Amino acid sequence: MSAIALLLLCFCTTVVSGDDSTESVVTAAPGDVALLPCYNVGNVTPTVTSWKKDEISIISGGASSPSNTSGSPSSSPGSRLEVLPDGSLSIAAVERGDGAVYLCASTLPGNNTFHARVVLQVVSGPANVSLVIDPVQKYPTVLPNGTYTIIKGSSVYFMCSAFSYPSQELTLAFTGLTNGSRSLVNNTGQPLLEYRTENIQPSAQGIYSCIAQNNVSHQETNKSAEVLVYYASDRHPECMWTQDSSFVLFHCSWFGVYPAPMLNWTEVPSGRILASEVADRLAVKINGSLLSEGQTLRCTAEHLALHKGEDRSCTFTLKTPYPHGKPLATAVEGTSITLVCSETTSTPPAVTTWRRGLKQEVIMNNSKYTVTAEGPSFQLTIVNITKEDEGVYFCHSENPLGAKELEVYLTVKSSSAYTGAVIGLFIAVLIVGSAIVIAKTVYSSRHKICLGKIIFIILELGDVLSLVESDEEQIYQATVPRLPPVSNGCQTTLVEIHRIPSTDHEDAEMDNANSKQQDTTETTEEPEDLVIFE
Ligand SMILES: *[C@@H]1O[C@H](CO)[C@@H](O)[C@H](O)[C@H]1NC(C)=O
Ligand SMILES: *[C@@H]1O[C@H](CO)[C@@H](O)[C@H](O)[C@H]1NC(C)=O
Ligand SMILES: *[C@@H]1O[C@H](CO)[C@@H](O)[C@H](O)[C@H]1NC(C)=O
Ligand SMILES: *[C@@H]1O[C@H](CO)[C@@H](O)[C@H](O)[C@H]1NC(C)=O
Repeated sequence: MSAIALLLLCFCTTVVSGDDSTESVVTAAPGDVALLPCYNVGNVTPTVTSWKKDEISIISGGASSPSNTSGSPSSSPGSRLEVLPDGSLSIAAVERGDGAVYLCASTLPGNNTFHARVVLQVVSGPANVSLVIDPVQKYPTVLPNGTYTIIKGSSVYFMCSAFSYPSQELTLAFTGLTNGSRSLVNNTGQPLLEYRTENIQPSAQGIYSCIAQNNVSHQETNKSAEVLVYYASDRHPECMWTQDSSFVLFHCSWFGVYPAPMLNWTEVPSGRILASEVADRLAVKINGSLLSEGQTLRCTAEHLALHKGEDRSCTFTLKTPYPHGKPLATAVEGTSITLVCSETTSTPPAVTTWRRGLKQEVIMNNSKYTVTAEGPSFQLTIVNITKEDEGVYFCHSENPLGAKELEVYLTVKSSSAYTGAVIGLFIAVLIVGSAIVIAKTVYSSRHKICLGKIIFIILELGDVLSLVESDEEQIYQATVPRLPPVSNGCQTTLVEIHRIPSTDHEDAEMDNANSKQQDTTETTEEPEDLVIFE
């Protein structure tokens, strides 16, 4: 501090005296030759120049000084210091300790004195810049070109270091594939810089640079390394199949993987490799006649990001088709029917079609037929069925191993099959109708027919109406005692209809009340109605 204070004092004095003066900064690396200028503003040669380092005189000399001869004080043998004829101070093999503030005084012709202040900065570096990347994983991580490969999800340690004198700034920068370069971390005055990232992601793939800058010289040096983040898919490869005339193409694809995996098509269990390639998809073409039932083809994927023993594969076990469904179907003329067939066995997947007749003509979609496929289910809908639609239909399923059919026989029933039911209904109507007629007859000749006969008729009717259930008979029997007593052998002027549902007797009573005033002509035709005469 005192040195600086004195220096400032000296500087001020110089300015006040009106003498010329300059101030300059010289930087030199250790081992270099440093040249400190003194009087460099005019053309005259100073006669003598003396130099001080940190206010201490160290050397003097000049053009006319005896020092210009050998053995002079300006350049003693073994000394690194020398005053050149123009008054400059030359320092050979600069050392760190040479860094200081130097003052010079040159005596110019005319006895003027020129003062100058020179700061010598001894700087070095950045040197030995290094970038260490240490992925915590267990397989070779550095490619021959020096690129690091790191598995997604790993923890990665970066260390950036350099040597600079007197001090440095270290920066770890990242340049991704998309956005520009950015600083991840930095520090000043430290020999090294550390950075750690957990769970590295593909977005962290790019170039990492350790940048060292000398704080004094601002010289910058960097060391970069490329980092690739490898990853595999959790899913298995996908096995697919296409047919190309008599050849079958087995496709294997495995996406979402970096870099491209090694895919192999092998035959199981022989292990014979059918095809192998570093790619995210691989197809193998096999003559269909060489394939056989039960043969297994496997696509396996190899990738650096997969752990040992982790398997990613897909397989085909070849199976001939086996369409299945109901072999018989029945439809009524004028309606429509859907025949269903399932094909779940075939590997590779079969081509399934509906065919008709002994010639097995393929059925296409038209106004008569609708062919639909929903996953493994194949449906054939036939509309407006006629007798001509009766016959055999085939669900034909075919893959390169062979073909198989499901035979469905369709029986078409004419709508007259329902005449039986119609006749049944007719008879029922007839019976009820006759009951009404009888009732009317009874009513019209009520003074001639005795109650006993009426009851007899009813009992007979009860036998005919087979639809009357057992509990209804109970009601009938319960009704009988309520009949009014016979007064003069002939009785009854009113006919009542009791609708008696088989389930609820209370409802029967309500119905009874509702129908109290009805005439026999309003009798319903439903066979479950029971007619009771009082
Ligand atoms: C002495 O000074 C003269 C003139 O400046 C120069 O030519 C000569 O080379 C110098 N001699 C040495 C030994 O430096
Ligand atoms: C180093 O090799 C890898 C793999 O071959 C390549 O992807 C990468 O671009 C290479 N890097 C450099 C810097 O050449
Ligand atoms: C497929 O193989 C069969 C039997 O090996 C052979 O006759 C046929 O020519 C082959 N097809 C093709 C297109 O090579
Ligand atoms: C079914 O037949 C009827 C009568 O022949 C016809 O009007 C109708 O358009 C037919 N429907 C179809 C889908 O063919």
